[in-house]
Parts: sequence; C-alpha cells; structure tokens
Amino acid sequence: MSYINNELINEIRKKNDIVEVISKYVELTKRGKNYFGVCPFHDDHSPSMSVSKEKQIYTCFSCGKTGNVFTFVSDYEHISYIEAVRLLAEKVGYNLGNIKNKKTNNQDYEIYENSVKFYQNNLYSSLGKNAIEYLQKRQIDKDTIKKFGIGLSIAKISLTDYLIGKKYNLDNLIKLGLTNEKANDIFVNRIMFPIYDLNGNPVAFSGRIYNTHDNSKYVNSKESDIFKKGKILYNYHLARSYLKKNDSIIIMEGFMDVIRASTVGIDNCIATMGTALTKEHIDILKKMSDNIILCFDGDEAGAKATNLAISLLEEYNISPKIVRLEDNLDPDEYILTKGKDAFLNKINNAINVIDYKMELLKNNRNLNDVEDISQYIGSSLKELAKIDDDIVVELTLKKLATNYDIAYQTLYDKLIKYKNDNVKPKIKKIKPQKEPVDKYQKASEYLINYMLIDEHVINMVENKVIYFPNDNIRYLANEIIYYYHKYGVIILADLISYLANNEPLLTTLRQIMSLHLKENYTEEEIEDYIYVVNEYPKNMRVNELNIKLKKEENPLEQAKILKEIMEIRGVKK
Ligand code: CTP
Ligand code: MN
Repeated sequence: MSYINNELINEIRKKNDIVEVISKYVELTKRGKNYFGVCPFHDDHSPSMSVSKEKQIYTCFSCGKTGNVFTFVSDYEHISYIEAVRLLAEKVGYNLGNIKNKKTNNQDYEIYENSVKFYQNNLYSSLGKNAIEYLQKRQIDKDTIKKFGIGLSIAKISLTDYLIGKKYNLDNLIKLGLTNEKANDIFVNRIMFPIYDLNGNPVAFSGRIYNTHDNSKYVNSKESDIFKKGKILYNYHLARSYLKKNDSIIIMEGFMDVIRASTVGIDNCIATMGTALTKEHIDILKKMSDNIILCFDGDEAGAKATNLAISLLEEYNISPKIVRLEDNLDPDEYILTKGKDAFLNKINNAINVIDYKMELLKNNRNLNDVEDISQYIGSSLKELAKIDDDIVVELTLKKLATNYDIAYQTLYDKLIKYKNDNVKPKIKKIKPQKEPVDKYQKASEYLINYMLIDEHVINMVENKVIYFPNDNIRYLANEIIYYYHKYGVIILADLISYLANNEPLLTTLRQIMSLHLKENYTEEEIEDYIYVVNEYPKNMRVNELNIKLKKEENPLEQAKILKEIMEIRGVKK
C-alpha cells in the first residue's frame, strides 16, 4: 500500500460505511449496538458475523474472520487488497487511476509501453500487409488486435534505434530483452503479442513467425526485473475485469487459445503460456475464483500437462474441473472448427477430478471382460479412497454399482479397506522438554489486544516490555507504537489499512482480533502480562550466564556472573 498514502485510504474508508457495504453482500440485522449476518467466509447456518458500526470492523464468532471494509471486499470478491481499495474508492467518486502509476512510473514499464505502440504502428504500415493478411486468415479481427495489443516487428524498422532516439539507455534495452549485445533488435519479422503483468502493464513479448519457416514458432522475451514467467498468467488483467462473482476461470496453454475464446465472447480465460503451473500461479488463481477449469490442448502433451496441474492444484486443496478436447485440437482450433456452442458445451460439462481419473483408468482395458472390470473397479476405488468429500464418494459408488451391476455394499466394503490402507501409522513425536512458550504468547496477545483499546497500555508496553518472544508480535507492537506516535490515536479500522502492505503483520493482527479477548482490564492485569513477557528475555539471559558460569574458572569472574544472576532473579522477585 506504500504508494497510496494512508490519509487518502482512511478518507475512502470513512466514506464507505462498513454496515452499508457489507449489507450489499449479506443481510444484516441490528441487535443491540452491532449488526449480525450469516458469515460468507465459512459454511454458516445462523448469523455468526457481527459488524460494528462504531468500530467499522466485522468479526465472525465461528470462523474468526475479521477486518475492515477493505479486507471484507478483498476476501469476498477474491481481489487483492489494493483492488478492493480501488473498487470502494470508485464507488464514492475517487479515481485512483493515476496513483497506481506512481509505483509503475519506472522506465522499464515506459520502455515496454513505447515498444507496444511502436509494434502496433508497424502492423498498419505498408510493410505490415502480409501480417494483417495472416491475422485475417486466422480470423483475428481489428478489435481483437487492439484488445490484445498485437503488433509487428519488422527487420527494416529498428525498435532499438527508435528507443535510443527517445533517449533510453542501450543497457536497459538489453536488460529488458528487446535488444542484443550488438544493438540489434531481438524480435525480427514476427507478430508481436505483448504479455502483461497482473496490473496490466506490458512487461514482455512473445513473437510469432507468420509467413516464414523457422525452428522456433515463438520467441519470448527473457526474464527481467519486471517479467517473471512463473508469476504471470496471460490475460490475467483482462479476465479479472470481466470476471463476475461465481464465474469460473478457464486455464489454457496458449495465448492464441485465450485470444480465440475472447473473439467469441468468452473472456474468463487465462494461459500458462506453455510452462507448468507454479505455486505462484495458484496463489493468483485462488484470488480470482473458486472454480477452476483446466482446458489444455487435446494432444498427449496436453493430457500430461493436465495431470501435472491436477496434482499441483490438489496439493493446495483445489479440485479443478477438467475439459479434454477431442481430435488433438487446442481450444483455438476447436472453436474455429466446431464453433462457439460446441466449445461452451464442453466447458459446461467439464468433469470432476475423480471422473476424469476413472476415465483414464479405462484405457487399455476391455470392459466386457470380468477380470478387466474387476481391475478397473479396484483401481478406481483406490483413487476414490483418497477423496474426502462424502457426497462425491457416495455418488461415484452408486454410479459404479449401476454401471457394472455390482452390489453397493460390495463396493463400499472394498473402499473402506482401501481407505484403511491409506491411513499411515502415526509416528509419535517426542516434544522437547522446554518451558511452554504458550504463556508468553498468551500474555503478548493480551497486551496487543489492550494496546488497541487503550493508549495507556501502549505507553506501558513501550516503557516496560523488554522483548516480545514472538517475532511477528514484536514487529506488530513496534508498528502500533509507531502508528500511535504518528497519528496520536489508534483507529483499528485504519491500522488495518496501514498494515495492509505487510501481510504477516496484518495476519497476526487479525488473528489476535479473532481471539475475541475481553475488553475491560485492570492496571494490575497489564502489569502481570508485562511481567510474564519480560520473564522470557530474563530467563534467556540467566541460562546464558549459567553456561558461562560453568566454564569460568576464575573465582572473581564467577562471583561477577553470580551477582548478575542474583540481580536478574532479584528483579524478578
Ligand atoms: N510456446 C513458446 N515457445 C514455443 C512454443 C510455444 O513459448 N516454441 C508457448 C507460447 O506461449 C504458446 C504456448 O506455449 O502460447 C502454447 O504453445 P502451442 O500450443 O504450440 O501454441 P498455439 O497456442 O497452438 O499457437 P499457434 O496456434 O499460433 O500455433
Ligand atoms: Mn494453436
């Protein structure tokens, strides 16, 4: 959040009353001072979420979700914090459009923006006729060319010269993958597809050959400070803006697939651009939608990529839906040859992971042969035994029972056997005999809790606490103290915004808030918590001194160490 100032964010927050904003998503009923509603962040059946008009904070008593108006919209809409700020800002008539560029006001981005425009101009020059024809043949119309920023690199018109003429530095162009060491363009006679980062800034190119033969169909920009392939999904920024709540997101391999889908009005597609899915991709996807559909190429490589992606997504507890296209077609070819409706039909009938795996298990088996059937069912049940969703399990068992005319109970018994096989013997962990850290943690959490309620506690912590044992709590306490000195007051809803660019600290704060610790306290209690927390560094020091004492042979030195130990103990009581 560093690049939008806190005062502006607080102003936007104040104009978006939390009760009003949350009411748009969840029905709220006033009860006493607060409002209550069904929590949208867990499977809630009775209203567990309270919204405080006074504090401008929501908090769920069941799942513990808590935060301010921005975190609510961010979590609910699956958008980033900054996107939530932007959204709510627009609702109350602020335009943060140019503020975003403050951070991206980097020359690297400027160079790429200039390059995109340069290549686009080339496409419509007299030397771009063949390229335009190629695109027309592929049924890419003018609007689509514009929407995806498609352009053309031409040997006779040097991008490098153009950019140097604009006073950009050659080393920078080399670093950005636009120019080689001999000051020649990297991309020559290729149709240019800009690749955008998550904020919609062009950060790389992929260049395709069009009327020549070449060993490499595509040439891509190398990775740079602004372009990391594993952290970018093609078309994220556009798909994001089209995505409505509950929409699924369709993952494809190639950007031509995404572009084709968009020509027939399907805009919720993104592409991995031929690389394997990464953990970073999954983090991005999680923010976009809960429903992920894998729609890779219909060939053998696409099948492999599908399996790999399923495994990785399952590691992160995401169960995607799967589309496999016939005849080795990729989505682009499928839409062109079979039409939009046929493609949408495939998407709407995407199958779940277990059905997909069971389809694969049919390969090379003769399902008229009882032994093959038995093997097939055995393998299927082994897969099914890994699935947690009881309903999926029961429905699948029923399907198998009907399709192969086997008693449900027989299948069920066998499944239970496989399930038991899956249970790994538990290894007993021997806990190291340490002093429980819990009491330090608990006392620290109480102190943070009261720091948020009363400035007096902030002063006490600042003056008396030596060292919070937990790193995040220590940093958080420092931030609260700093915030208090800067603004003279703690407004929790604004403190959340203030911490939004520091994920671990925001998480720590939200965790402590979700503990629902009591609000009233006595001075004596605070002294006790501080005493407990301060025991930790003192004990550490005493341990250190004891070790030193054992090694020390000089009686004078020994006496000194003992004295320090006594002093520390003395302070303790
Ligand atoms: N790719 C690449 N380099 C290659 C081939 C492919 O970087 N030599 C990446 C591209 O990002 C491409 C994706 O892998 O979008 C999928 O490749 P492929 O299926 O071969 O491309 P298509 O999408 O079918 O492209 P086209 O229809 O233009 O041939
Ligand atoms: Mn293709």
